[in-house]
Amino acid sequence: MLTDPISRIEELRRVIRQHEYQYYVLDNPLISDAEFDALMAELNALESQYPHLITPDSPTQRVGGEVLDKFNTINHRYPLLSLDNAFSFADLAQFNQRVLRLVNQAEYLTELKIDGVSVVVVYENGVFLHAATRGDGLVGEDVSANIRTIKAIPLRLKSAVPRLEVRGEVYMPKREFARINQEKEEKGERVFANPRNAAAGSIRQLNPQVTASRFLSAFFYDVIYAEGVALTSQQEMLDFMHEQGLPVNPEYRLCPDIQAVYAYCQELAEKRHDLPYEIDGMVVKLNSLAARGELGQTAKSPRWAVAYKFPPEEKETRVVDIVVNVGRTGVIAPTAILEPVLLAGTTVSRASMHNFDLVEEKDIRIGDTVLVHKAGDIIPEIIRSFPEKRSGAEVKVKPPDKCPACDSQVVRPAGEVAYRCANINCPARLKESLIFFASRDAMDIEGMGPAVIEQLVERGLVRRVEDIYSLSKEQLMGLERMGSKSAAKLLQAINESKKQPLSRLLTALGIRHLGPKTARILSRHYSSLDQYYHLSEAELQQIPEIGAKIAESVVSFFAEPRNRETVEKLKAAGLNTVEEKQFQGPLPLLGKSFVLTGLLATMTRSQATQLIEALGGRVSSSVSKKTDYVVVGEDPGSKYDKAVQLGITLLNENEFAALIEEHQQLFAK
Ligand code: IVH
Repeated sequence: MLTDPISRIEELRRVIRQHEYQYYVLDNPLISDAEFDALMAELNALESQYPHLITPDSPTQRVGGEVLDKFNTINHRYPLLSLDNAFSFADLAQFNQRVLRLVNQAEYLTELKIDGVSVVVVYENGVFLHAATRGDGLVGEDVSANIRTIKAIPLRLKSAVPRLEVRGEVYMPKREFARINQEKEEKGERVFANPRNAAAGSIRQLNPQVTASRFLSAFFYDVIYAEGVALTSQQEMLDFMHEQGLPVNPEYRLCPDIQAVYAYCQELAEKRHDLPYEIDGMVVKLNSLAARGELGQTAKSPRWAVAYKFPPEEKETRVVDIVVNVGRTGVIAPTAILEPVLLAGTTVSRASMHNFDLVEEKDIRIGDTVLVHKAGDIIPEIIRSFPEKRSGAEVKVKPPDKCPACDSQVVRPAGEVAYRCANINCPARLKESLIFFASRDAMDIEGMGPAVIEQLVERGLVRRVEDIYSLSKEQLMGLERMGSKSAAKLLQAINESKKQPLSRLLTALGIRHLGPKTARILSRHYSSLDQYYHLSEAELQQIPEIGAKIAESVVSFFAEPRNRETVEKLKAAGLNTVEEKQFQGPLPLLGKSFVLTGLLATMTRSQATQLIEALGGRVSSSVSKKTDYVVVGEDPGSKYDKAVQLGITLLNENEFAALIEEHQQLFAK
């Protein structure tokens, strides 16, 4: 007998919530990722079969598809205060004296001061209602859509408290900060200065998909309002939030007097570098809420709490050299070699300078005396140089003209801070080039993943991208964990990939900014690879979807002789170099812009997008005056309102299907 879908859905949600809590809050997963994914997949499948059963607190509802136009505002119930700072134990002693003037006995609860972004989250009847930033303390921004994506923050509490408003800190763990900055460096983007900026940047941007792609977490430390719940101390607040399934930092201590506070602060000053997130101090709070009432607050901060700030960990040292590295994606980045110094628990002897703009801006020269710290408590970084300490023998460095790994031309793609090696076969980036070349969106060679590519390159079997097309079965069989059967299969997949359309080959070449979608558009206009050698930026920019950045990188890719050679060899290996024209004549929806909103019943968003694109139309994520049609599904978002406001033609799902069909028929003629 089949279980009825309602109870199975509820059961799945309950189990998934519990596992999210185990994984994201307790850091103690009880099942494997694959098992968790299977539960989510089952819930997703049931919910798409029974869409009327979807509720906003379902674990599937963390990321909606909509990009926002702007944030609305939310008025805070009470002004959100900030804290006065103490920079020494003497400052703390003074704070303690002030407290003891008004209360007889001061028991403190000392917490970590998490270096993140302050947020307020409101639950109604136990369900996530909204979330706001601190803003000016009175009015914040409604960042609900972004906050919902943070898995440590429950969409449903353990009990249905009529209304609960809590304040906490959203933060980015140190490792995630390092990962995102590495990614930014590789993309030629500016890096985040510290995890706090990274967290703020991730919360205060309009696309929830971006927030979801970054691993953020949170700790809650204050109950602003709890309807029907009597709480008398900070300890009780923390316990209550913990019981409700909210993440509460376990590193706090109840201190009977200020001496105990000093001891705990000292302890943490040493332990802080071992924590997976950054703290910039400790927060000392009077535990009793009644005692807090006695002390009151000023306009800006409570008199019953203080932030003890750790002294910044910075050291002076000297730049011995500035070397240039080629990263795995071809980014050419300067690194300073330093006279070793002990910094935040480790010896530091090099500091990445991310890009040459930063070297220039901070005016860092070989031989300079510099001040260093660790960004996000892990990445050694030069804060500044001391020009007044120069002898005159210091040497400025410039970006190289030629790649230090392969001597090819170095280019600086428009809109990026990075300099890059333009050669797809540069030994420094060959593995990445190959991984990308074989990947699903590109040539889609099944079985040729990073592990296989690693071995092919390490063993010298592949020195240039085109070499994969001359691999033999024997060579493949020599690789680890590759039997005769899998070697034959891989060889077949390699051969099959020769038939891929030009758009995939263009994508596979890893031309900066040219993603699969733009490659499809491009290959519709220039359907043979030979044409690309002679294209000019101006010509390319005639195509509405092709901007200056893409035009420039397409031209510079084909200008590099080593790349042309690879293209010629790929042709010689028998790769297809044309895009079959699906249609004759001009595309009927050319120049028409569509926006999709809400859930479509008969197709997914990506299917709808494909239909539109195949007829020459384009799909964009936000509604503007230039939008021609807005396709409205079930439960449309703010894009619908905007479309109505701007008077844009609305299509329901049937009308959309009819429009597509009509144009397809037009076309078949
Ligand atoms: S208590 C009235 N506790 O530090 C309550 N703040 O200026 C004020 N912060 O804006 C905040 N960890 O963003 C408190 N355990 C903690 C905290 C904490 C980080 C942040 C918060 C606040 C700033 C203090």
